[in-house]
Amino acid sequence: MTDLFERAVPDPAAYLDQLAATDAARSYKGVLFDALDARPGATVLDLGCGSGADLAPLSEAVGPSGKVVGVEIRSELAGRARERTGAAGNVHVVAGDLHALPLPDGCADLARTDRGLQHVADPARALAKARRVLRPGGRLAMGEPDWDSLAIDHPDLGLARAYTRHVADGIVRKGTIGRQLPRLAREAGFAVAAVVPVTSVFREVEAADRVLGLRRTTERAVSAGRLSAADAERWLGHLAAEPFFAAVTLHIVVAELAA
Ligand SMILES: C[S@@+](CC[C@H](N)C(=O)[O-])C[C@H]1O[C@@H](n2cnc3c(N)ncnc32)[C@H](O)[C@@H]1O
Repeated sequence: MTDLFERAVPDPAAYLDQLAATDAARSYKGVLFDALDARPGATVLDLGCGSGADLAPLSEAVGPSGKVVGVEIRSELAGRARERTGAAGNVHVVAGDLHALPLPDGCADLARTDRGLQHVADPARALAKARRVLRPGGRLAMGEPDWDSLAIDHPDLGLARAYTRHVADGIVRKGTIGRQLPRLAREAGFAVAAVVPVTSVFREVEAADRVLGLRRTTERAVSAGRLSAADAERWLGHLAAEPFFAAVTLHIVVAELAA
């Protein structure tokens, strides 16, 4: 099997930092940032802030009279987020679960999730908690993928579908959260002001591999019985050959509370 693909499982903070620096992430993160519209003086929550890749621009946007609070369930990621924002007086990182936010009612003007809801056990509950901590008139901007939209070109379409089905159903806990968000946000009491799809297209296999972990995911598909070892060989063998094409859509959903 070709050696083009990443072998090691990257450490989670390094993976998130590496991913945030890709063209694909910069593109949707820009749309999400604009949708949040953080102004000086605002209090903003970054729900599932990971290693804190987005805390510095938020800190700059709200300025010294505003506040940014990152919430992250994994203590090593919360620690890394704290380390990198230590110098900014207006950023706080708390270890906490989106299902039980350790924050007072109505404490924030704005909140965001950036690929966090795809991992929670109960997105409806997390949205209810986000609603609780926002003030009336508050806004929640979410950027979450729909992994059912993942398309990877391979001459054997059945094989490509078996692989992408494995990603949507077997890798990500809530693989189709992107399309569900407008409904779930409405059910949680928000008005949905906008839905903006952002499609990332990868034409270089190395760029796709940094985001999708193609070898690791293929190996997991084999372990799960979704692909045979021979399928895996054919799959990765062809992906390594030019031309490469993959695309996936992430939805930016802007949800607002009545004033
Ligand atoms: C894909 S990462 C994205 C991190 C960050 N938003 C970014 O864009 O780099 C999703 C993050 O959500 C966190 N997360 C998952 N479930 C969570 C929960 N129940 N409560 C808080 N954070 C959670 C994960 O630990 C992870 O750091």
